[in-house]
Amino acid sequence: MFFRKKQKKVDLSRPVPTHIAIVMDGNGRWAKMRGLPRQAGHKVGAEAFRTIANYAKSIGLKYLTVYAFSTENWKRSEEEVDAIMELLERYLREAIADMDKNRVRFCFFGDLTRLSPELQEEARIAVERSKKYAGVQVNFCLNYGGRDEIVRAAQSFACDCIEGKCRPEELTEAMLSERMFSAGVPDPELVIRPGGELRTSNFLLWQSAYAEYYFTDVLWPDFTPEELEKAIASFNGRNRRFGGAK
Ligand code: IPE
Ligand code: IPE
Ligand code: MG
Repeated sequence: MFFRKKQKKVDLSRPVPTHIAIVMDGNGRWAKMRGLPRQAGHKVGAEAFRTIANYAKSIGLKYLTVYAFSTENWKRSEEEVDAIMELLERYLREAIADMDKNRVRFCFFGDLTRLSPELQEEARIAVERSKKYAGVQVNFCLNYGGRDEIVRAAQSFACDCIEGKCRPEELTEAMLSERMFSAGVPDPELVIRPGGELRTSNFLLWQSAYAEYYFTDVLWPDFTPEELEKAIASFNGRNRRFGGAK
């Protein structure tokens, strides 16, 4: 006789933020602890992402932004960067093939032009074909840096000024937001960083001005839906004042 593993019941009565962002950190240490090459950690990390994206959809999250590769991660060995890029390609190929099953809308934040033509093409197809899904939107941050994003927004505004479309003193926060990779996406209410580091590492600098942060020592490959629930519970217990005095 077989017993199916009992699924933990999710308390669907609790509020879920609209937008959660995650720094998927700790893959390398996860692998090292097991005497494996760093790449092995990235592979299991990709699986953790798949599980979390599906779970996010099941609890009604609208936006999930994940930091997959930063503008600084090019500093790593060629071997590691190549392995990450290969994994990303494979992940996207599979995501495109399984699209109708998973029904996740894809979006990419970052300068994709530095990625291989194959990866760029897969990203384009993933965005194009998933436009029709109304559930969760996954914003994949690839070759993404918060400062790089702000510089690009400033350059775009400066160009508009030179062309006479607007004047410097007319610039508002909303106008700069519209020039970010995240244009049209509400700011994240909750930013989660697994992996034990207590820093942003250049993630969503503009957008997380009033985000709540949740740090955990759990390494990303070990991050489960239960961990996400813990972060949401922590978020729900906080008093967000936005500078006010409630
Ligand atoms: C995050 O895990 C993945 C990327 C940055 C691409 P790391 O590779 O940074 O893992 P640690 O922090 O070295 O453990
Ligand atoms: C942040 O992690 C980037 C991603 C998870 C993609 P890092 O591992 O690059 O950050 P640092 O080097 O510890 O600050
Ligand atoms: Mg790291």
